[in-house]
Amino acid sequence: MTEITLPRPDDWHLHLRDGAMLAAVLPETARHFARAIVMPNLVPPVVTGAQAAAYRDRILAALPAGMDFTPLMTLYLTEETDPADVAAAAASGLVRAVKLYPAGATTNSASGVRDFEKVRPVLEKMAEIGLPLCVHGEVTTPSVDIFDREAVFIETVLDPIRRATPGLRVVMEHVTTKNGVDYVAAQGPDMGATITTHHLIINRNHILVGGIKPHYYCLPVAKREEHRLALVAAATSGDAHFFLGTDSAPHIDALKEHACGCAGCFTATNTMQLLAHVFEAEGKLDQLAAFASLNGPAFYRLPVNEGTLSLTKSDVPAQWPAKIEGAAGPVTVFDPGFPVYWHVKD
Ligand code: DOR
Ligand code: ZN
Repeated sequence: MTEITLPRPDDWHLHLRDGAMLAAVLPETARHFARAIVMPNLVPPVVTGAQAAAYRDRILAALPAGMDFTPLMTLYLTEETDPADVAAAAASGLVRAVKLYPAGATTNSASGVRDFEKVRPVLEKMAEIGLPLCVHGEVTTPSVDIFDREAVFIETVLDPIRRATPGLRVVMEHVTTKNGVDYVAAQGPDMGATITTHHLIINRNHILVGGIKPHYYCLPVAKREEHRLALVAAATSGDAHFFLGTDSAPHIDALKEHACGCAGCFTATNTMQLLAHVFEAEGKLDQLAAFASLNGPAFYRLPVNEGTLSLTKSDVPAQWPAKIEGAAGPVTVFDPGFPVYWHVKD
């Protein structure tokens, strides 16, 4: 196959930031993706429906004329979140999910949840109205090894929350382990998982062997090769539990190439080309539409996009800018480390 046409894809986990960074990165997503679930971990976080409405307006104001993109807004769950505010924001169609960050788990997660009992009324309201909870699935317990934090989260937090809240619809975001894939695949239709572009491509050796590669550092951190292989198998399986969430997370180079570098890989620009490469290598190009265009809308109970996106393969490697140069500073685009021959057709 040298050409493939999909319903226009969506990104079910994206960081757009704000201000100058938003202006720089939004076109990179809107070029290929019709919609994205927009993460609320701004400073300060997007906690209320009013804050989500204002953020959506800033995103739409930053969208270049002629580009077609719909931001799907999320609320940042805190121990003070008001169930009635969440319900009203969902009923209006503004908010499509609530994001749970365990406090301290990642970038701008200090206002996240410490005591899960405190958010029980919100979770019960969400189960009642069918609003998905997107979870950053890592414990923050200092004694738990960073490579084990996802597996421990599933056992000690995710599964207990789901058992205590029947009907709660949950997306395990950026799943990185075979443990996560196996857990999600064994659940019913109330459970889904996003998989990032970069976790399909790199394992932990790519970060650490031959010198530290700060642009491959993200959270959850990439795991052993056996876990990457489980992610590739899940993404290319067609299983409706799994859909694309790039977790494209821009940080300026000065903060990535730093003594205490920020977590995040920026993949908005080249995700579709990279996915075509990964799916073709598995002999599963026929499942790319399920992963990037169909399974996400089915989980979020939204229509599949009407437009299409076509990719063609040629013997010339695809090119993309090494960096996105915005007023906030340069952001390095994820480098897979191998040539990619799939091109998005204009
Ligand atoms: O690598 C990451 N970057 N993981 C996250 O969970 C947050 C994100 C960010 O906001 O930079
Ligand atoms: Zn994220």
